[in-house]
Formats: sequence, C-alpha cells, structure tokens
Amino acid sequence: MGKCSECMAWNSVVETTREDRKSGSVSLENLRFEPLSKIKLAKQHRISTGVSEVDRVLGGGIVAGSVILLAGEPGIGKSTLMLQLAQKCQKTVCYVSGEESPSQIKIRAQRLGIEGDKLLLLPETNIDRVIASLERQQGEVVIVDSIQTIFTTRLDSVAGSVGQVRESASAIIRFAKSQGKPIFLIGHITKEGAIAGPKVLEHMVDVVVYFEGDKFSSLRLLRSSKNRFGATDEVGIFEMTDGGLEQVTNPSRYFLKEREKKVPGSVVTATMEGTRPLLAEIQALCVPTQLAIPRRISQGFDYNRLQLIVAVLSKKLGLPLAGFDVYANIAGGLRIQEPAADLGVAMAVLSSFKNLPVDPKTVCYGELGLLGEIRDVGFRDQREKEAKRLGFLKVISPKTCGSINQVVKEIFK
Ligand code: TYD
Ligand code: MG
Repeated sequence: MGKCSECMAWNSVVETTREDRKSGSVSLENLRFEPLSKIKLAKQHRISTGVSEVDRVLGGGIVAGSVILLAGEPGIGKSTLMLQLAQKCQKTVCYVSGEESPSQIKIRAQRLGIEGDKLLLLPETNIDRVIASLERQQGEVVIVDSIQTIFTTRLDSVAGSVGQVRESASAIIRFAKSQGKPIFLIGHITKEGAIAGPKVLEHMVDVVVYFEGDKFSSLRLLRSSKNRFGATDEVGIFEMTDGGLEQVTNPSRYFLKEREKKVPGSVVTATMEGTRPLLAEIQALCVPTQLAIPRRISQGFDYNRLQLIVAVLSKKLGLPLAGFDVYANIAGGLRIQEPAADLGVAMAVLSSFKNLPVDPKTVCYGELGLLGEIRDVGFRDQREKEAKRLGFLKVISPKTCGSINQVVKEIFK
C-alpha cells in the first residue's frame, strides 16, 4: 500500500508480522504487584571490552545480556572498531557478517594485526540461521554487522526496510536476553538521520552509541545517546590511522598539537566532552569583504552563534564588522556545541580583526550574552584544572570577567 487509508500520508505503511493470538484463558496464579523493597537485585556483571574509551562510554564495560546498538555513517569505522574490540576483549567473539565475506574481514584483520582462534566469523544474513548458529556456538560476545543486512523470511519486504530491521532485531534481542550474552548490533545511518535505520531500534535496545566523525578528518567520537546501565554523557575519542583506530587518551594535547604560537586569530578555549574537559584551539579570520552582504562561515561551531557573536562585537566594541567577512574554525575537526566556546570565538575574531595575537598561554571560555555580559557555565573547576595541567597560565572565565569589555582589557592590555 503506497498511501495510508487513515491519515492519507504517502509511504508511511510498514510491513510487520501478525502474531496469532492463542485463544483460551490466562493463568491467574502468582499475579500480584511486589513492593520495591522486596525486589532482589540481580548482580550486574560487566565485561571489560579491553578498550578503555569504549568502556568509558558504556559506563564501565558491557553488561551481560545487553544489546548495544552501534550506529554511524557508512565508512566511519564501525567494523574496524568492532574488530579491534573483538581482539582486545579476550573473549570468544562470534562475528556475524552480512556485509563482508570472511576473506575480506581477514584482509582487514591482517592489516590491523589481529589473529587468533577467539574470533569466529559467520557470513550469514538469514536471521533464523544466524540464531541457530549462535545457539550452537559457545561465543561469549556477539557482533552483528550490520542489522540492515539481516532479514527474516516471514516478511516479504527487502532487507534493510523498517519491518525487516525491527523483526530481525527483536529476534536477536530475545536471544541475548535468554542466553545472557551481550550483543553488538551495527546499524548504518545516513547524514539526514535514519532511513529504516537505527531510529526504529533505539527504544528496543539497552544502549545506543553513535560513532561520529568527519570523512576528511581522522577524529572519531563515540557517544552514547541511551544507556540503561550508565550515564549518557561520556565520550570516547579515537583517531583513525593506517593501523586502525587509536584511542586518544589525552585529547587536549591532540587538539593543540598543531597549534602555531603567537598568531593573530588563534585562541584556546576549554570545552567539555561529557564529563571530560578538553582544550581546543579556535581560529578566526577577518578580511575586508568584496560582497554586499559579508560572509560568515563557521566550522565546528554553530553558525547562528557566530552571527550573534559578530553582532555583539559590533555593538559593544564598535567594530565595523559589516565590512568584513568572518570565518571561524575549531582546529582538529572537533565540533563544539556548548555556548561556553562563545568567548573564545569572540576573542579569536577580535584578535584577527586587530591583527594582534592573544598570549598563547591564555585560555578563554564563557557564554556571551546579548548585552555583552559573560554568562556562567558549568564544570568551571574541571576546565581550570585541565588548563593548569597543560601549562596554561591565565584563565579568562565568567569567574574573572563580567563583561566583554573587561575581557578585552584583560587580553589586549
Ligand atoms: P569501516 O570500519 O569499514 O567502516 P564502517 O564499518 O563504519 O562502514 O572503515 C572504513 C574506513 O576506515 C575506510 O574508508 C578506511 C578506513 N581505515 C583506515 O583508515 N585504517 C584502517 O586501518 C582501517 C581498517 C580502515
Ligand atoms: Mg562495516
């Protein structure tokens, strides 16, 4: 059916299986509510993945019987991450691959220096055959790459459609719960979001982690957006190299490593990735415009916030920015979403405009209000500690300055 006969929307009908309801009465024995205090706690057993950045995101390791959805754009490195994890976790891992043949996986494994008998491969896409093979095999961890290639013969639609993805995933989840084995499901998403992809699975699985990054940068971030067994604010940071993914355990050093000292337009800010402070370099460039409407270009930072910062700079400091193109960039491919980077961006723009470098041992953070005031942000202690740890001598923050004019005085005195 192309059109829904109820709401008249096109292409909104999704195929599903029909459950035959058994007639007959339900047993009413042992049917009662339990007080919370009487509920016995099952001990949660966690397995370390051997990759500390992954453990951090999962909240301290994999919980037995949990189903973890690893979602990301094609080519971002999901299969690579899983393969490396399979090697590091020191468990027998069953790797169900519907995307690549075992020999393709072997080539990649060789490249990553992975070998051994603990990684078992199964090229299969039929869900019944997958479950049957898993039941026979004594693997401790299961990886399914990818859920979009797995299909059930109970539906007519093609693999990867909403119905197929949902049916296959629920069969796998039932298996995980009954056997108490942790399962990783890999799911592809498109830039626009999700076509028949992980979005339909998010409420079914226990943990959802997104693997993100830019095709043109080697930086990869692992973020959890749902976790039934832990917090969702942790971020794992990796770098894609010739030898696979490498953990970035000291992210501030990584983001500052190519920094040129004493150049106008460069300011270091302290941002938070989850509960981890991170120092990053903001670069800005102001050049006289040739256009009637000057350009504002922002990379790694919200475009609308850049507009707002430019407006505040024009009004509060009287900068004639209407005659200038303004470009802003977060070095290293990082994306900063929190407003705490405002002050850093503002000072980078000002520094480029004035053609005066900011002292390279200064860190600047804080939210910039429309009135030119510096608004408070969270995690001040962590940010400051990280700055000290990396040898920065001066921190300009909502604690030290109340308005943008004061900040300018501090920085360009
Ligand atoms: P892959 O894990 O196949 O992505 P996904 O499963 O998410 O689709 O990773 C593919 C990209 O990773 C590929 O374009 C090449 C790059 N890559 C490296 O840079 N170094 C490596 O060691 C490996 C294995 C892959
Ligand atoms: Mg893959």
